[in-house]
Amino acid sequence: MRKLVVLGSGGRLGAALARYCAADAEVIGFDHGALDLASPEALERALEEIDFDALVNCAALTQVDYCEKHAPEAYAVNARAVGVMGRICERRKARCIHISTDYVFDGAKGSPYVEADEACPISVYGESKRRGEIELLDASSAHLAARVSWVFGPDRPSFVDQVIRQARESDQVQAIGDKWSTPTFTGDLARWLHSLLWDHPVGGLIHLAQSGACTWQEYGQYALDCAAEAGIPLRARSVNFQALADLKAFVARRPVYTVLDTGRFARLTGVEPRPWREAVRDYICQHYGAR
Ligand SMILES: NC(=O)c1ccc[n+]([C@@H]2O[C@H](COP(=O)([O-])OP(=O)(O)OC[C@H]3O[C@@H](n4cnc5c(N)ncnc54)[C@H](OP(=O)(O)O)[C@@H]3O)[C@@H](O)[C@H]2O)c1
Repeated sequence: MRKLVVLGSGGRLGAALARYCAADAEVIGFDHGALDLASPEALERALEEIDFDALVNCAALTQVDYCEKHAPEAYAVNARAVGVMGRICERRKARCIHISTDYVFDGAKGSPYVEADEACPISVYGESKRRGEIELLDASSAHLAARVSWVFGPDRPSFVDQVIRQARESDQVQAIGDKWSTPTFTGDLARWLHSLLWDHPVGGLIHLAQSGACTWQEYGQYALDCAAEAGIPLRARSVNFQALADLKAFVARRPVYTVLDTGRFARLTGVEPRPWREAVRDYICQHYGAR
């Protein structure tokens, strides 16, 4: 049976991917407790001790404001470690997929970003993730950096869960209404990554996201509509507008528009990602429906 290493298997995407891939591979998962990517020696040791055919890195320092204040740690985990794993995989002739982010873009384009668009990050998080992509592809052009956006799923709460929780507890909910991207379900990402691992082993950059685009306010509003339909008692039924510029608690700058064009993935696999609304609805029905 083929062997797959999943780094970050305790995280939102890593846990979903490890579960999905366990159907037809032996999955060796490392969560943060088992392996600290800030230590290149620990990474080398962990991978040296095992045989594997492929590795997917879902681990990252993902808190944007934390990264802004802890740049050396962000670069160590999000960039240097990715180079180390890329070179180990190259030596071992193992396929390597690294998860990256829409935050490598500055958000100024105003229409969906393709892989060939210039990355121009505006935060330490975005810059550290961009350096990770470069380190990975320098190790081997056969490796793949998959950029994803606004990830949600059952293994760790995200924006959609926060909005539902707030609407249950309070009669006022607000969310940013002037920043656009695309919510993307870990269940769909796991399926797409599986096909890129075993059926379509391409290298370079690829964008993976549901289709369509929205603001956080639209995303939150749709989540509340689905939650109400699923019978979840809510105190707030609408999400009020909040301007990005008014979020004074943000330390790092956020790009305003980071919708990803998924044409390369669709042409390669024949799979058109379904609309974000369908995925959000499914998630809320599955995850909250029976409560
Ligand atoms: N979430 C989003 O909206 C989003 C958007 C765009 C791109 N992405 C990318 O998608 C990937 C998966 O993100 P996610 O949503 O699954 O985030 P997540 O739930 O925060 O998962 C990241 C995992 O990395 C682990 N980690 C952090 N520092 C580590 C270290 N030094 N050594 C080893 N593991 C470490 C975390 O463990 P602990 O929590 O235990 O520290 C966590 O399990 C990341 O590459 C992220 O940059 C996410």
